[in-house]
Amino acid sequence: MNSIRLRPLSRLFLALFLTVATIGESLAQAVGAAPAVSKEGVAPGATAAATPATAVAPAAGGGDAAAIAAGDALFKGNCAQCHAVNDVVVGPALAGIAKRRPMSWIIPWVKNSSKMVASGDEYSVKIFNQYSKQQMPSFQLSDQEITSIVAWVTSQEGKATGPNDNANGTGIKPGEQGPAGGADTADAGAGKYMNVLLIVLVVVLIVLIVTLVIIANIMKDVLRGRKDLDGRDREVLEQRFDFSKIYKSTAVRTIVGVVFVLAVLYESIQGAMGVGLQQGYQPTQPIAFSHKLHAGEHQINCAYCHTSVYKSKSANIPSANICMNCHSQIKTESPEIKKIYRAIERKQPIQWVRIHNLPDLAYFNHSQHTQVGGIECQTCHGPIQNMDVVYQYSPLTMGWCINCHRETPLNTKGNGYYDNLVKLHDKSNGAVPFTVSSNGGTECSKCHY
Ligand code: HEC
Ligand code: HEC
Ligand code: HEC
Ligand code: HEC
Ligand code: HEC
Ligand code: HEC
Repeated sequence: MNSIRLRPLSRLFLALFLTVATIGESLAQAVGAAPAVSKEGVAPGATAAATPATAVAPAAGGGDAAAIAAGDALFKGNCAQCHAVNDVVVGPALAGIAKRRPMSWIIPWVKNSSKMVASGDEYSVKIFNQYSKQQMPSFQLSDQEITSIVAWVTSQEGKATGPNDNANGTGIKPGEQGPAGGADTADAGAGKYMNVLLIVLVVVLIVLIVTLVIIANIMKDVLRGRKDLDGRDREVLEQRFDFSKIYKSTAVRTIVGVVFVLAVLYESIQGAMGVGLQQGYQPTQPIAFSHKLHAGEHQINCAYCHTSVYKSKSANIPSANICMNCHSQIKTESPEIKKIYRAIERKQPIQWVRIHNLPDLAYFNHSQHTQVGGIECQTCHGPIQNMDVVYQYSPLTMGWCINCHRETPLNTKGNGYYDNLVKLHDKSNGAVPFTVSSNGGTECSKCHY
């Protein structure tokens, strides 16, 4: 056998190239998939926290599994837009909270953190200052609900940090977030593991390629040493690495074509999903009214101005006479306040620009959520009390409504209406918390009529 055939070798190269290309493609898809999920999440921060939690592991075995499951839902419904277990989001990472603080501190803190800060409690003041005096909202949760949130957090600690133990150590402190921070936190646990796997794969492939190139060179040397070369062997010897071959290969063209089509498809789907979305919308209002000043610093109750929010479908915008309750006395000389006077003199309402606006095809009722469901305004509207100018915090998509209905346990305590339903639910499906969707909160006709 005097002619060494190199064809199998070049096939191997092609196979290698294909593998690398496929990995690249799946990487691109993995990156693409992440934002698609956040589109329908409760809120950007919330999905970020929810993804690793669900991706990592189910709640701890043994222990009080029901309490932990309830804590999971409560956390996602109330805390996840500001907290994650292992990452700093708006508030601190909650990992280790049970060791850091006694329950006798955590419970009153969650119920009313600003009261704790005002009381001068040393730790409360310190952490409040550390997070640039951002107020955590108050929650009307029971002691037991808060305990189950802490139980859930504790059950997630070991698990979520498991895969990145060697990369990151356990607790991540505020300053330690990597440069990729924000986006990266989304898939911290599982994501890092995947990244390590991919890097290892790429390294193995590079080693393989180098080895093959060396083998090919040795073979060429062997060929060169011979006299009795036939035409094919000579051709192989004189062969230079030729890019046009790769470029002309149908396989490569197909792959490039597929990748291109996928990218275009992904972009157009994202674009289409964004149509009509107004998350982040922050128009300039006719009067420089600041929620930070009124609801934050001066702690005026939301319902003092939005008087109907606990009683009716819509939350009203206060009329000028509510402003005058105070501004007939306060800051009367300010040019902004003069605008209120002018509106009253002209008997014309102030033309506030509407921010939140669901399409008419969807039915949303404030009192059902605030009064009956006991949900804080901030869960849906974000930290209004820190906003100088209000913006739309949540996406207000159908996925956002539905996600929350799937995850939020119904506030059934002291509500006789639910007694029988809870009993029936516990009998048939006791392990799963009684959520809004167990009560039909994901049926089309509840929101569309
Ligand atoms: C709107 C954002 C926001 C929400 C929602 C929120 N928090 Fe916080 N939380 C913060 C901030 C900010 C801090 C830091 C202290 C401060 O600035 O008041 C904090 C601090 C804490 C701390 C103290 C942490 C430590 O390291 O000592 C605990 C415990 C806590 N939050 C629990 C909760 C729980 C439980 C929920 C849900 C029921 C929740 N938080 C919901 C923003 C939030
Ligand atoms: C002193 C009166 C006052 C208080 C207190 C107040 N608001 Fe407002 N709110 C207004 C006015 C006026 C507007 C319309 C102008 C604007 O958007 O800033 C408004 C607008 C809003 C909007 C946007 C409405 C839209 O156009 O979609 C939301 C959401 C909101 N407030 C929530 C809250 C929450 C939550 C609180 C309590 C933390 C609160 N407000 C406290 C007066 C008040
Ligand atoms: C419960 C009392 C109260 C109500 C009601 C109230 N405000 Fe105020 N407002 C205040 C206080 C207190 C200040 C801060 C005054 C200061 O900084 O000295 C203020 C400040 C302001 C300022 C800043 C003025 C400046 O030039 O610094 C504007 C603008 C304003 N309010 C608009 C409104 C509007 C519009 C409404 C009605 C939707 C309203 N306020 C309702 C208490 C109130
Ligand atoms: C479950 C989520 C949720 C909660 C909790 C919530 N809101 Fe809203 N809010 C919305 C949605 C959705 C809209 C848009 C409604 C629409 O366009 O019909 C809205 C609109 C508003 C508006 C504009 C006027 C209107 O009714 O359309 C104001 C003001 C407002 N909310 C204030 C509040 C206040 C104050 C609280 C707390 C007492 C609160 N919201 C709690 C979801 C929520
Ligand atoms: C933060 C969580 C949350 C979000 C976001 C949310 N909901 Fe709800 N929703 C609830 C809870 C909790 C209840 C149950 C209140 C109760 O009856 O105890 C509820 C109840 C309802 C009901 C009554 C269901 C029934 O069984 O009678 C309707 C309708 C509804 N929501 C519509 C919406 C729409 C529309 C949106 C989005 C614009 C939305 N909700 C967003 C938590 C949420
Ligand atoms: C919890 C409340 C809720 C439930 C349950 C719900 N939807 Fe929706 N749906 C909404 C909201 C809110 C919107 C508007 C979203 C937006 O503007 O992006 C919407 C939008 C839609 C749209 C898009 C309309 C358009 O113009 O883009 C369709 C179609 C739709 N819903 C169908 C359904 C069907 C079918 C079901 C039952 C399987 C269902 N919905 C259940 C809240 C709900």
